[in-house]
Amino acid sequence: MSDQSRFHIMDHPLILHKITCLRKETTTTKDFRQLVSEITYLIGYEATRQLKLRTEAIRTPLMPTQGMVLQQEICLVPILRAGLGLVDSMLKLIPDARVGHVGLYRDHETLQPVEYYFKVPPRLDQMMAILLDPMLATGGSAIAAVEALKKRGAKKIIMINLIGAPEGMAAFSQAHPDVDVYLGCLDERLNENGYILPGLGDAGDRLFGTI
Ligand code: PRP
Ligand code: URA
Repeated sequence: MSDQSRFHIMDHPLILHKITCLRKETTTTKDFRQLVSEITYLIGYEATRQLKLRTEAIRTPLMPTQGMVLQQEICLVPILRAGLGLVDSMLKLIPDARVGHVGLYRDHETLQPVEYYFKVPPRLDQMMAILLDPMLATGGSAIAAVEALKKRGAKKIIMINLIGAPEGMAAFSQAHPDVDVYLGCLDERLNENGYILPGLGDAGDRLFGTI
């Protein structure tokens, strides 16, 4: 795993292999979904390394001992719609997590994010929020989602993305230098329509078969 600022870019061979499969234009919707889940599981494992623990007194069948348990509740926050594809794997890793939702879409003309839904649990300020979205392109959606979470009191936020563009990475680092980002792969650049190159196309469409 290599670091640039607070971006943690994955170098695990399985992640890179699976991202290559994900990109292929011949990958079916079924396989695309499966690969998104598998990649999220692997990135999620790395991202959750930084979770804080506290000790808890327990009894095994043989004796009392001190165990370690997660210190903070976790709230997963997928950005609708494509972020939904990352939720199941993260729930496998953290079954007790709560799930909030941020509904954002990119206006196709302006590329600006438009918010249409926002629902998070109460006491978000006492939880760690893990924002989920496969794509970090201009960074506009992620920047707006983090702003919305901070406005609702979130103090500790991390983000998981599968593919990012340098443009989005720069914009996001500048807007939210306090947020750690776990990124599967950093691509070359954006095209004139704000799509990541080489990328994988429209993540939501490929995930939900709306192409
Ligand atoms: C995609 C993607 C991100 C956003 C990234 O969503 O899932 O949320 O674009 O682009 P940005 O970094 O330039 O903001 P999209 O707006 O296509 O909505 P959808 O998931 O509903 O298809
Ligand atoms: N959203 C996507 O789904 N794909 C991109 O390449 C950019 C934004």
